[in-house]
Amino acid sequence: MKFLVHTYGCQMNVRDSEAVEALMIAAGHERVSREEDAELVIVNSCTVRQKAEEKAVGKAGNLIAAGKLTGLMGCAVKRLGADVFSRLPKLDFAVGPRAAGLIPKIVADGRFPRLELGEEGMSEALSSHVAGGAKAFVTILVGCDNRCSYCIVPDVRGHEYSRPAREVVAEVRALAARGVKEVCLLGQSVLRYGVANAAWGASDAPSPGGYSEAFPRLLEAIAGIGGIRRIRFTSAHPRGCTEELARAFREFPQVCRHIHLPVQSGSDRILADMGRRYTRAEYLAAVARMRALDPALSVTTDVIVGYPGETEEDFEATRSLMDEAGFDNSFIFKYSPRPGTRSAAKPDDVPPEEKERRNQVLLADQERRGLERNRRLVGTVAEVMVEGPSKRNASRLSGRDGGNRIVVWEAPEGEPAPREGAFVNVRIADAHPQTLIGEVQ
Ligand code: 5AD
Ligand code: SF4
Repeated sequence: MKFLVHTYGCQMNVRDSEAVEALMIAAGHERVSREEDAELVIVNSCTVRQKAEEKAVGKAGNLIAAGKLTGLMGCAVKRLGADVFSRLPKLDFAVGPRAAGLIPKIVADGRFPRLELGEEGMSEALSSHVAGGAKAFVTILVGCDNRCSYCIVPDVRGHEYSRPAREVVAEVRALAARGVKEVCLLGQSVLRYGVANAAWGASDAPSPGGYSEAFPRLLEAIAGIGGIRRIRFTSAHPRGCTEELARAFREFPQVCRHIHLPVQSGSDRILADMGRRYTRAEYLAAVARMRALDPALSVTTDVIVGYPGETEEDFEATRSLMDEAGFDNSFIFKYSPRPGTRSAAKPDDVPPEEKERRNQVLLADQERRGLERNRRLVGTVAEVMVEGPSKRNASRLSGRDGGNRIVVWEAPEGEPAPREGAFVNVRIADAHPQTLIGEVQ
């Protein structure tokens, strides 16, 4: 059957969609890229904010109206449960975030409608990859036990579970043998690897509440795999920015000079209410500790504006923290109450126009700050992994430096263009807030 997967949401969803594609291809189905060619369309949904959920559910509704065989997977399915069929009465099947591995069986059975919310098929899905490409996502930890006040993720993705290290290492070895050069290790909170359950076996006793050395050990093991030139990971938490993590950055050049460290707010009052388990000062100390390794380390973040009770003063504290941390990039989100979370019990009292204003202020700050940070790189030479022709201008090539910054440069004339996954040295000649302009040496 010809099928297509549409993905909404974070990298975890991108990875889950890829696993479904791999399993469907292995079951004899054909992946197509145009919706009109597909007989079956699967929508992978997000529910972190209400708008995100509405987009995915709306998309599934449109497909059903167009007469496609339609499946919905991912976080919104888990949140809605059986109600998903009142929202989408003609939906063919719906599977939660830990049941995506069942999709080929559900399609083969052909008994619709069908709802799966359990964990059956999870481990099969976790290790399946589509062949090709120089980059791969590898899920090392599923679920989350942090329970931040605003976040629905623990409700929909379940308890935290770290995959055994030997399984992860074997998976990366297999990817390297297929030509993968960059892996991005994924989890809601990857530095908690090996905390909720032992990842390295009996020697690695679980350390509830703390941060074990299991993650730095994993970085070391993966750095030892031939062919893997870059190791990225996301997301991190300041409490996990330990001396052992810093040592892994220092010792293994494969570990990319980038850390995504969601801060959410710069106000201690709001951070405490969110249950983030760090103060503004502790967060800034973690950034300083990591940047001490390399001042060019790229630090990126997530911020929520308009959290219940966020005053102008709290907001200004977020603004000033963002300047002090000198974020290379940031993702700003307007607070959206999610049913069943702690903060949903509080009045959503920052008006939508004010959320929008705060959002715009932080975006403008980030433009200026991103440009300042990027300008410091002008004149340096970046090692860039080629992605392909630039989307805006096909005569240019585009790739990413170790800090995950986008670098664009003129392809030299008369020479064959470097292939995807090739490494090229590019001199940075100019800077934009989100892009570096280079010239080949
Ligand atoms: N409202 C707005 N943003 C949210 N995020 C998580 N939950 C919410 C919510 N209820 C943001 C956080 C997180 C990112 C993935 O989404 O900033 O880091
Ligand atoms: Fe987990 Fe907190 Fe991240 Fe939500 S914001 S996914 S609860 S660590």
